Amino acid sequence: MSGAPGMVAVLDLEPVNEDFLAEVLAGLAASPRSLPCKFFYDEQGAELFQKICELPEYYITRTETELLRRHGREMAESIGANAELIGFGTGAGVKTRMLLEHLENPIAYVPVDISKQSLLDSAAELSRAMPTLDILPVCGDYLQPLQLPKSLRKPDHVAVYFPGSTIGNMEPEVATDFLRRVCRLCGKSGGLIIGVDLQKDRAVLEAAYNDSAGVTAEFNLNLLVRANRELGADFDLPLWRHQAIYNAREGRIEMHLLSETAQTVRVGGVDFHFLSGEKIITEFSYKYSQAGFAAAAASAGFRLARVWTDPQQLFAVFHFTVAE
Ligand code: AVI
Repeated sequence: MSGAPGMVAVLDLEPVNEDFLAEVLAGLAASPRSLPCKFFYDEQGAELFQKICELPEYYITRTETELLRRHGREMAESIGANAELIGFGTGAGVKTRMLLEHLENPIAYVPVDISKQSLLDSAAELSRAMPTLDILPVCGDYLQPLQLPKSLRKPDHVAVYFPGSTIGNMEPEVATDFLRRVCRLCGKSGGLIIGVDLQKDRAVLEAAYNDSAGVTAEFNLNLLVRANRELGADFDLPLWRHQAIYNAREGRIEMHLLSETAQTVRVGGVDFHFLSGEKIITEFSYKYSQAGFAAAAASAGFRLARVWTDPQQLFAVFHFTVAE
């Protein structure tokens, strides 16, 4: 599929029948009420998330990028030569490039992302920068089993790259199942490079999800804007408030939308009654200890090879290999 530099074809496996209405109705009827965080990322939401990544309080992206800048060479050495790199949700591709640049004779790069445009843009840019690299982009949901394309040359091994601590948005059992699937995808001599946000002071965590510019609030409330636009719901935006609190017992940030008053919302012909102060859970963002994450990965079949952290231990990048 690779051609002239900058010309990259995308394999389109985008899910067509994702049922926003059915999931919203089920989530609002559940107790406690919830809305799936995967629906944050419409065009508006993806732009807001990009802004979040640049906020002074949101240390995650900055810290992970700095880890790649400082240790990208060591990470690439740890992965080894002649690898096929599969990137899950690698977005604009800035961090992936910092890894690819140092890899010895990478055979192919297979970015998998749900956002077709950002996939196309970053793949085209990468192809201009690394014209000899076989780039095989796939538009799809990496949480679902996917048949990924094969490169013309056979790699010695597969390395999956999963940055951004997106693993933190999965419930622990879902995360372990996901890691188990990744482990199978890696095969015997493969490995996983994964970015994970670490447990830390409540104040630092809560500031990251309650930024002073209000971008995270807008990102959270955009879910209701999307439901109004796409489902004809009648959420009255000023009557809803963003909230993010750290639940230390569960080790997770919990994002909610709080009803400011008693109110009724109509979605898809169904009325939902909310009490004043009632919440809708919109996202969990789990924070791990280093040992806790290594244990979760071990239970999925991985063995810890190396870990890199910043001096303040805010964030970690792990390299796991598949256990014998
Ligand atoms: C994508 N994910 C890792 C982000 C997080 O930090 O959990 C999503 C996010 N939600 C609010 N701010 C950022």
